[in-house]
Amino acid sequence: MSLQRVRGTQDLLPEVQAKYNLVVDKARGIALRFGFQEMSTPIFEFSDVFKRTLGEATDIVNKEMYTFQDRNGEEITLRPEGTASIARAFISEGLSQLVPLKLFYQGPMFRYERPQKGRYRQFHQFGVELLGPASPMADVEVISLGHMILSELKIRERCELNLNSIGDQESRKRYVNALVDYLSSRKKDLSADGQKRLETNPLRILDSKDEGDRKIIQDAPRIQEYYNEESKAFFDKVTSALTEFGISFTVNPLLVRGLDYYNHCVFEFRSTDLGAQDAVLSGGRYDDLIKQMGGPHTPGVGWAAGIERILLLTPLEPQLPRPVAVIPVHESTETPAFKLAYDLRTQGLACEVHFSGNLSKRMKKAVSQKCIAAILLGPDELARNEATLKWLDSGQQEVVPLNQLPSRLQNL
Ligand code: HAM
Repeated sequence: MSLQRVRGTQDLLPEVQAKYNLVVDKARGIALRFGFQEMSTPIFEFSDVFKRTLGEATDIVNKEMYTFQDRNGEEITLRPEGTASIARAFISEGLSQLVPLKLFYQGPMFRYERPQKGRYRQFHQFGVELLGPASPMADVEVISLGHMILSELKIRERCELNLNSIGDQESRKRYVNALVDYLSSRKKDLSADGQKRLETNPLRILDSKDEGDRKIIQDAPRIQEYYNEESKAFFDKVTSALTEFGISFTVNPLLVRGLDYYNHCVFEFRSTDLGAQDAVLSGGRYDDLIKQMGGPHTPGVGWAAGIERILLLTPLEPQLPRPVAVIPVHESTETPAFKLAYDLRTQGLACEVHFSGNLSKRMKKAVSQKCIAAILLGPDELARNEATLKWLDSGQQEVVPLNQLPSRLQNL
């Protein structure tokens, strides 16, 4: 039996888990301020939920999904992302009466990618989806929410917001034709991957990492020249509103994103401090996804952030409450010490009792655990219903009646 973690997975040890919780709590608090509500979907779905929505030619569907047959022969996939699951739930739970619907979620996602810094096979996302409004102000609302979360996590200044519009279906169709014409004339110089994408998903050649492809792309037609009136007006509204909000961004005509459900606005907050896996928070608009899955026409826009990537960047550290140590100074007061700690915990105080050690060892342990105070419980004091309260920062101590301990400690 192998006792290694599966490649690309991680154990979130207590210190990391505490920081993870801090990030999620911050993001949750800000999403609630924007009027978003939390929901969860299962971590596995019928494979079709993802296959039919993310795009047959995308990397995720082609080579990264954890798909298996369950005991009943159903084809199941561990969710690689949250948007398709939310869209599925929107339809199967009959949520269309509730639009506009502002939702957020967090939890593990699964992709069979090559693990490297900031890239895992089981990773965690915090994501938001705004379902219903076709207005560009919905894009501004979710982008500004992402901006505020990254700002409060003190990493916004380490990120650049890349923004693009891939237009509506009509604009994109005309653009893809022009792009394919241009790239076909240079097909032999494209990378093997690029040549394959020319047949299956030509837009994705725009964000190819291959040097040769990138050179060819420099002279490729730009999508901006193919927008129809509506697409242009939509994007202008988003960029002008973001400017008014004071949210800085760079229009990146090569940003196309790796999923097929997008139209109009797409965006990525990227950080050069992350290395190759630089996308921290990414998303876009997906007006046809829910209809394409069999639901009513319902525009949507949202994003997801990789929590592991945020953890690599944020300087924030969790502020855990400093506990109080209860220390029996004699064997006979061990059970009363545990009982006193239990009673103080019912009053909301964080308490520690150690399972072994003499007085000096227990005091040392209390100091190393950054306890705010130690309550020393001896047999004589206990008989008088008292204990010695020792403040560990100042070293000062006082004798306190047991029933006054909660108020002495709570008023800190
Ligand atoms: P995505 O760009 O595939 O979009 O993933 C969103 C974020 O998840 C990325 O920017 C990155 O921070 C993180 N991420 C992705 N893959 C990994 C990985 N293997 N390891 C660690 N972090 C990773 C989506 O998932 C869309 N559902 C976003 C969206 C929501 N669009 C509209 N609504």
